[in-house]
Amino acid sequence: MLQTQDLTVRFGGHVAVNAVSCSFAPGTLTAIVGPNGAGKTTFFNLVSGQIPASSGTVHLNGVDLSQAPVSARTRAGLGRAFQLTNLFPHLSVLENVRLAVQAMRSGAHWHGLNLWSIWSDHRALTERALEILHTVAMQHQQAVQVASLPHGDQRKLEVALLMALEPQVFMFDEPTAGMSHDEAPVILNLIRELKKDKRKTILLVEHKMDVVRELADRIIVLHNGTLVADGDPATVIALPVVQEAYLGVAKEAA
Ligand SMILES: Nc1ncnc2c1ncn2[C@@H]1O[C@H](COP(=O)(O)OP(=O)(O)OP(=O)(O)O)[C@@H](O)[C@H]1O
Ligand SMILES: [Mg+2]
Repeated sequence: MLQTQDLTVRFGGHVAVNAVSCSFAPGTLTAIVGPNGAGKTTFFNLVSGQIPASSGTVHLNGVDLSQAPVSARTRAGLGRAFQLTNLFPHLSVLENVRLAVQAMRSGAHWHGLNLWSIWSDHRALTERALEILHTVAMQHQQAVQVASLPHGDQRKLEVALLMALEPQVFMFDEPTAGMSHDEAPVILNLIRELKKDKRKTILLVEHKMDVVRELADRIIVLHNGTLVADGDPATVIALPVVQEAYLGVAKEAA
């Protein structure tokens, strides 16, 4: 169970996330919606530790992670998609995924300088990395240098790296933004598959309401940093505050 309590961050005088208290249970996919600038990405940044909170707490399975750095939160099971700035642009797609798998597994076992185990580990890491690339339909691009990937493929690689961490909590921030009509279904299918694992907690920031309707078990609405609605999709979508604040904006944009 992931829990935030009065989670708040101020940038100067602006309160970007305002006292958000919310719990997210395993086996549920919660969509986080709200207009541009509502604080959705900032909320993810606070949960993952990318930015420090001004006040409030983050607990995972009862463990207080409020002061923990990103690395400790990742080890605890909070998975936030990598930013591409964290990748190795001059290494191949496969090498990047293998490094993520290795990073996740290091510490789990240490064989010392046993050459056989280094070799067999290397092979196991490669196999796992290829398996992950398969799930995002990028196995044919394994040898491509990351720097030369098209934008949509870079976004898919972000998801691949997130998978490599095997987190308990998956945080997807507009995962199909910038993807082509061919690419988006690959990621949506992957999220559908992840949903079947009832140990996983999925948080999805998504502007596309058809995607939200299909995938979400629950919707929370942020508006000016405040949680203004929380409930099952049909109920939340019907609320006047959502019709005005969110769908109104979406209609203008469409
Ligand atoms: N590092 C920062 N410094 C100052 N202000 C910031 C910072 N990060 C976010 N903000 C501000 O906080 C508010 C919330 O931004 P955020 O990116 O979380 O919104 P969002 O809901 O993700 O929007 P979008 O749907 O456009 O992605 C905005 O007013 C933004 O300008
Ligand atoms: Mg955002």
